[in-house]
Amino acid sequence: MMDNIQELGDDLLARIAAAADPAAIEAIRVEALGKQGSVSALLKTLGAMSPEQRQAEGPKIHALREAVTQALAGRKEALEGAALEARLAAETVDLSLPAPEMPRGSVHPIAQVMDELAEIFADMGFAVATGPEIEDDWHNFTALNMPESHPARAMHDTFYFPDRNALGREMLLRTHTSPVQIRAMLERGAPLRVIAPGRVYRSDSDATHTPMFHQIEGLVIDKDIHLGHLKWTLETFLKAYFEREDIVLRLRPSYFPFTEPSVEVDVGYTLVNGKRVVGGAEGWMEVLGSGMVNRHVIAAAGLDPDAWQGFAFGTGVDRLAMLKYGMDDLRAFFDGDVRWLSHYGFSALDVPTLSGGVGTSA
Ligand code: DAH
Repeated sequence: MMDNIQELGDDLLARIAAAADPAAIEAIRVEALGKQGSVSALLKTLGAMSPEQRQAEGPKIHALREAVTQALAGRKEALEGAALEARLAAETVDLSLPAPEMPRGSVHPIAQVMDELAEIFADMGFAVATGPEIEDDWHNFTALNMPESHPARAMHDTFYFPDRNALGREMLLRTHTSPVQIRAMLERGAPLRVIAPGRVYRSDSDATHTPMFHQIEGLVIDKDIHLGHLKWTLETFLKAYFEREDIVLRLRPSYFPFTEPSVEVDVGYTLVNGKRVVGGAEGWMEVLGSGMVNRHVIAAAGLDPDAWQGFAFGTGVDRLAMLKYGMDDLRAFFDGDVRWLSHYGFSALDVPTLSGGVGTSA
């Protein structure tokens, strides 16, 4: 018996020491300590022994199992350590090498212009307000002085949803950012100075119209506000946005249901090599709708129109971007053409600031 145990032990320990990988170690473990294993078989013989025999053989067999168990664990640890060493050696990085060229994204011109506008208006004390793109007809039309029968509703080519909301209001994709005026007054009260940039939707598609486009709305509500404040604000905004001092504005009487009086704002341009460049006054381009907020609108938003007045304006962000960065097809904004994006896109690290220039490094 003694020889048997000794021999088995020597053989197992020698093979464990020579095992080259974790699979070899596992095979030896099953062979020795598994249910049918050689060491397990020895342990089972203890049951049939006489007490004296058991006293003599028991400790040897248990010692064998212990030695094999320990040798397996030790060899496994050594192999794993060696594998880790090898991997660490193979995975070293030479930090002095130039970084590999990575695919680089850019900021979309629309996002860039929205950031520029927020920066310019923040400097004049305007906060950014938002509202839902899925809107109800009360906020989008009724509260803006366009009751159900109002002809201006028909001009908006509205996308309607089939179902009404819990209040029984018709649901639609907002056709302009003007409903944010109502939401801002209801939520924040007066005095108020906000801009609302965002997506708007109309069922219209050609070279100069896309079914989704972007607008920015401005709203000032305070005491003793008049058209002079509006004109100064728009002039200051357009000078900062186009980054030139020779911006000339022309205000023309117009009509919007939500303003009274209403004015359309043209900006003067100069022809440079046959292209219209903003600045000077050789010709005029319409850039904004605006006016003094209609008292019905102020009242609909829960404020006293005898105490509060204000002005509002709204314009297309996509068009502002085209004018500033010299793009001529609106549809290119939404085609997702990578060549167009890398040509007109902006660096993500080049954040617009008034002191650094809101958008000079296209
Ligand atoms: N909501 C108008 C539109 O989509 C634009 C507009 C005109 C907004 C005059 C205004 C405004 O705030 O005063 O055509």
